[in-house]
Amino acid sequence: MSAIDDPERQPPRLATRAVRAGQVRGPEGEHSEPIYTTSSFVFASAAEAAARFAGTEPGNVYSRFTNPTVRAFEERLNALEGGLRCIATATGMAAISATTLALCQAGDHVVSSRAIFGASLQWFEQWLPRYGIEVTLVAQDDLDAWRAALARPTRLVFLETPSNPLMRLADIAALADLVHAAGALLAVDNCFCTPILQRPFELGADLVIHSATKYLDGQGRLLGGAVLARDAAVAEAVHGFLRTAGPSMSAMNAWVFLKGLETLPLRILAHSDAALIVARWLEARPEVLRVHYPFLDSHPQQALARRQQSAGGGIVSFELHGGREAAWRLIDALRWFSITANLGDTRSTVTHPATTTHGRLAAETRAAAGIGDNLVRLSIGLEAVEDLLEDLDAALRCCAATN
Ligand SMILES: Cc1ncc(COP(=O)(O)O)c(C=O)c1O
Repeated sequence: MSAIDDPERQPPRLATRAVRAGQVRGPEGEHSEPIYTTSSFVFASAAEAAARFAGTEPGNVYSRFTNPTVRAFEERLNALEGGLRCIATATGMAAISATTLALCQAGDHVVSSRAIFGASLQWFEQWLPRYGIEVTLVAQDDLDAWRAALARPTRLVFLETPSNPLMRLADIAALADLVHAAGALLAVDNCFCTPILQRPFELGADLVIHSATKYLDGQGRLLGGAVLARDAAVAEAVHGFLRTAGPSMSAMNAWVFLKGLETLPLRILAHSDAALIVARWLEARPEVLRVHYPFLDSHPQQALARRQQSAGGGIVSFELHGGREAAWRLIDALRWFSITANLGDTRSTVTHPATTTHGRLAAETRAAAGIGDNLVRLSIGLEAVEDLLEDLDAALRCCAATN
């Protein structure tokens, strides 16, 4: 029996779960989890092999299906999110594509928020319709638009909150009611908050999706993802799709994510504290037109943010006076912010969404999503916040001087 299947051994608090949940100690008595670097598993007899393949007997068969290190990661993340079952995937996009393809078929209708990560938007807008799945995109914070879209029979609803990169929120509890009244399933991408700041299952979500690439690793080392479900049949459908289609997580990556989860509660709070300081500081700058951060008084959904999340997270986006030129000048002048598309790293990063993460979208789609040429996204790392402010100060001055 694994640690998580045994209620007696389930750690009671999130910080303890982050460190302890999911570990099944082997005969060697190892303290840290071993990495099971094996493609397949051996059977005692032909009959046992047949039973494992048929699923009539539990146990490992092949690492595309299950692997003990991957299972330890799945159980630890599941203990944090509070789902029934977690299925690890090769990337965050594999989690999103597997969920939609496993649960939907040609003729089904899917509703997604428009305010989502660029590749997710491409997936919903450009790829799903190729398989005969109809998609309606709606504004994240417009409940009437969700109501109108859900008036049609719908199989699955997808959203991300806070959204990448504009930090717009969706009211998960209110939407879960609408989605369930329509007979659909609600999937929430919890990448920006992680279960430490926001727990979508407690607010009514049916599926929680992660890009483990971001905060779950926390050091920008590798790619991974996860789908968590609270219904056994839904989880089995996603797992069945993944073991056949193939984008499962490797044992090596799972081990790194296990280590990442152990420090997640500390890291995400440190990222959030520093991000709030940076957001407030940016708001007072004359070069800055608008700052997007959920815990700012100026954020239109601040009350919802404080109800739904326990902190604002590590991402701050802001608009500069001026257009693309100003944004690029600022980005090029920064010293302690790496110019890179990743986020959730110990190192602060800076991105120009309109020409990178959201650059492949049609111009109208980008405009409808509110991603302007003057928008800059920061992922606040774990450097001294004073160094980050000094760096931003110098870059903003440089940007203004050349305006
Ligand atoms: C909110 C969100 N969801 C999903 C993804 C996709 O994750 P991955 O790059 O691991 O495929 C990203 C990547 O930036 C993201 O920001």
